[in-house]
Amino acid sequence: MTQRTITAALAATAFLGFAFAGHAEPANDTLIIDGSEIITRAAPAAHLDGALTELISGWQFRDTETRAIQMDDFDNPGMIFVDRGIDSWNTADGTDGKSCASCHEGPESMKGLRAVTPRVDAKSGKVMNIESYINDCRTTRMGAEAWGDKAEAMTDMLALISLQSRGELVNVAVDGAAAPIYAQGKEIYYTRYGQLELSCANCHEDNNGNYIRSDHLSQGQTNGFPVYRLKDAKLTSAQGRFVGCVRDTRAETFKIGSDEFNALELYVASRGNGLAVEGVSVRN
Ligand code: HEC
Ligand code: HEC
Repeated sequence: MTQRTITAALAATAFLGFAFAGHAEPANDTLIIDGSEIITRAAPAAHLDGALTELISGWQFRDTETRAIQMDDFDNPGMIFVDRGIDSWNTADGTDGKSCASCHEGPESMKGLRAVTPRVDAKSGKVMNIESYINDCRTTRMGAEAWGDKAEAMTDMLALISLQSRGELVNVAVDGAAAPIYAQGKEIYYTRYGQLELSCANCHEDNNGNYIRSDHLSQGQTNGFPVYRLKDAKLTSAQGRFVGCVRDTRAETFKIGSDEFNALELYVASRGNGLAVEGVSVRN
C-alpha cells in the first residue's frame, strides 16, 4: 500500500468501522448451470495494462451457499424476475398497441447483446446500455413511457435480455467511437471520491480478496448483472450497484443514466472482457 492508501484506509476505519483487514483467496470453484460451464476466471485483456493479473467473477468471492444458489435455476430467485420479463415482453403497451414481441419476435432475438454492451452508437456518439435501448423503443417506437432506471419492469427486462447471452464472453469495444468514453470512465474509476477519499480502484483493484466489514471484496466486475441481492430480495442493475458503492465513500453520487455513470459502466464492463455473462447472478 502507498502512504496515501493507508491514510485513506485509516480514515475509512474511523468513519465506517472497517479496515482492509483479513485476506482470503476467492474460491476456485466451477460454475455449472444446466450442464454448461460459465467462465469465472480469465486472462485480462491487453487494454488493462497489467492492472489485474487474473479476472475473477464476483461469484468466486461469495460463500459456498450463495454460490450454490446461482448454480441451480430453480433455486435462483432472480429467475422469477425473468418470468415476469417474459410476460412484459409479450404485453402491448403504449399508444401504438405494440409489445416487444410485435417487432422482435422472441426474447432469444436479443442473444449476444448483453456481452457487447454498453457500446457507443457511432452516429450519435451516445453510450447505449440495455436500459437505453429499451427506453428508446418504448418512447420512439411504442408510444409508451420510459421506464425508470430502478423500476421493476426495467430490471425484469434486463434480466430477461441478459439471460439470452448467458455463457457468452464479455467483449465490450474500447476503441473507435468508444475510445473517449472509455477514457472518461477510466478516469472516474481511479478518482478518489467522498470523505473517505476512496476510488473504485482502491477497493476493487488494490484490495480485492480483503475483507471490508463482513464483505469479501471482489474485483467489482459487472459480468453478473443484473444481480439478485439476497439482502435486498430484488434485482439491481450495474449502475444501481455503483450508487451504493459511491455512497459508501460518503460522496454525492452521480445519477443513474448520467454521462458519468454511462462512461463508468462501459469502462467497468470492459475490465471484465473475457469473463462470461452470468445471466442473473446471486450475490449477498
Ligand atoms: C415498433 C417496433 C419495435 C418495438 C415495439 C420494440 N422495438 Fe426494440 N427495436 C426496434 C428496432 C427497429 C430496433 C433497431 C434495430 C437495429 O437498429 O438493428 C430495436 C432495437 C432494440 C434493442 C437493441 C438491439 C440490438 O441488437 O441492437 C433492444 C435491446 C430492444 N430493441 C428492446 C426492445 C424491448 C425490450 C421492447 C419492448 C419493451 C422493444 N424493443 C420494442 C423495434 C421495436
Ligand atoms: C469502500 C470500498 C468500495 C469502493 C470505494 C467501491 N466499492 Fe464496489 N463494492 C464494495 C463492496 C464491499 C462490494 C460487495 C462485495 C463485492 O462484490 O466486492 C462491492 C461490490 C461491487 C460490485 C458488484 C460485483 C459483483 O460481482 O456483484 C460492483 C460492480 C462494484 N462494486 C463496482 C464499484 C465501482 C464502479 C466503484 C467506484 C465508483 C466501486 N465499486 C467502489 C466496496 C467498494
